[in-house]
Amino acid sequence: MALLEGKRGIISGALDEQSIAWKVAEKCAAHGAKITLTNAPVALRFGKIQELAAKVGAEIIPADATNLEDIEALYTQSQELLGGKLDFVLHSIGMSVNVRKKREYTNLKYDWMQKTFDVSAISFHKMMQVAYQNDVMSDWGSILGLTYIAAQRVFPDYSEMAESKALLESFARSFGYHFGVKNNVRVNTISQSPTMTTAGQGVKGFQEFFDYADSMSPLGNATADECADYCIFMFSDMSRKITMQNLYHDGGYVNMGINPSLVTGE
Ligand SMILES: NC(=O)c1ccc[n+]([C@@H]2O[C@H](COP(=O)([O-])OP(=O)(O)OC[C@H]3O[C@@H](n4cnc5c(N)ncnc54)[C@H](O)[C@@H]3O)[C@@H](O)[C@H]2O)c1
Repeated sequence: MALLEGKRGIISGALDEQSIAWKVAEKCAAHGAKITLTNAPVALRFGKIQELAAKVGAEIIPADATNLEDIEALYTQSQELLGGKLDFVLHSIGMSVNVRKKREYTNLKYDWMQKTFDVSAISFHKMMQVAYQNDVMSDWGSILGLTYIAAQRVFPDYSEMAESKALLESFARSFGYHFGVKNNVRVNTISQSPTMTTAGQGVKGFQEFFDYADSMSPLGNATADECADYCIFMFSDMSRKITMQNLYHDGGYVNMGINPSLVTGE
């Protein structure tokens, strides 16, 4: 089954083999797509993206997703390397300065908060705006961002990332309208289960809310690999009329109230 045969795309955010984007890149290649990989220049130094590039036969284009010139160069070079307009783009980028520096939610530094919003959410708008203005997306293309349910429910230690994700999801809805009207490009976010990655494990108490979500969800947590399968479906022609949605990929967690097994321990 090659769902992405003949398609071209950009995958951001692959840092190491735990990254959700890493798995997406592997599956894109397996499904016949031609891709470029991108990450912040600093991540190229301490990450393992070169290993992934060799494995999937992709070029790496360094780009800070908060920098408009970097994004423009990313699109220009990707189209040259891949031979045409893009069919899909994955935004798989997140970082909170206050979380990283262990500031409590009731004592946040606002310049750090602005940096967090810029990296984790406004970068999504920037990637879409540059793509829109430079007409880089093919008709019926697909743009995806990754998000977390802390945009809707309170997870105290997720801190300002909750607001980043709320903003990210809102950008998907609003830009989804403009891209849909322009040339039928769809824009969605996938709300993924807690996943053991560098970004995930940076959150205090991560193991506890990973385990809690796993026990609460009738199907258990969705893995990074399963998330990658969902991304492939969303990039493929099988999902052409899905747009402006926040799509839960969480084993049913979002609709649970109580799971008796958590109370009885059985
Ligand atoms: N891990 C989880 O539990 C979980 C759950 C739901 C959603 N997500 C989301 O999935 C996405 C991918 O995260 P992950 O869990 O695979 O972790 P990850 O740490 O592997 O990926 C985060 C990526 O963001 C990149 N990045 C940071 N600043 C950047 C910048 N300025 N420009 C370009 N790239 C930059 C990092 O280099 C890294 O590759 C994030 O949006 C994250 O919030 C993660």
